[in-house]
Amino acid sequence: MRKNSRLMLAAGFIGLVLTTSSFAQENAKPAEPSGKDLAFNNKKGNCLACHLMPGVPGAISNTTIGPPLVGMKARFPDKAKLRAQVWDATKANPQTSMPPFGKHQILTEQEIDKIVDFIYGI
Ligand code: HEC
Repeated sequence: MRKNSRLMLAAGFIGLVLTTSSFAQENAKPAEPSGKDLAFNNKKGNCLACHLMPGVPGAISNTTIGPPLVGMKARFPDKAKLRAQVWDATKANPQTSMPPFGKHQILTEQEIDKIVDFIYGI
């Protein structure tokens, strides 16, 4: 009888440890980066290296390499064309300095979608 209840206690304790540790793991998961994060991150899109974007503090984007990314909806009524530009800028201009983010797998398809969604709103 006593042995049994000790066993139960042990099982309960292990259960508790397992639940708390998986809970901690859930919580430790880093937040999914947003399209803005991906566009600004210099290890991801690094769009700011060549493009001015509205709402960027400081002067990092004081660049004239690429056109400012503003009014995207007006300039690209067809969102698919905007995505195509980000996916492979060399298609529209083989001489461009803009990296072909999708073609060269610099960004994943999902990351490109997020960035396109973000810039389409600016
Ligand atoms: C190394 C420089 C460079 C980087 C980095 C870069 N671009 Fe570009 N981008 C350019 C240049 C230069 C152009 C001008 C068009 C051309 O060269 O064909 C351009 C054009 C564009 C255009 C077309 C704008 C228009 O109005 O025609 C879009 C949209 C664009 N870039 C989005 C992005 C996004 C989004 C990123 C980040 C994921 C990015 N670019 C990163 C250089 C860059």
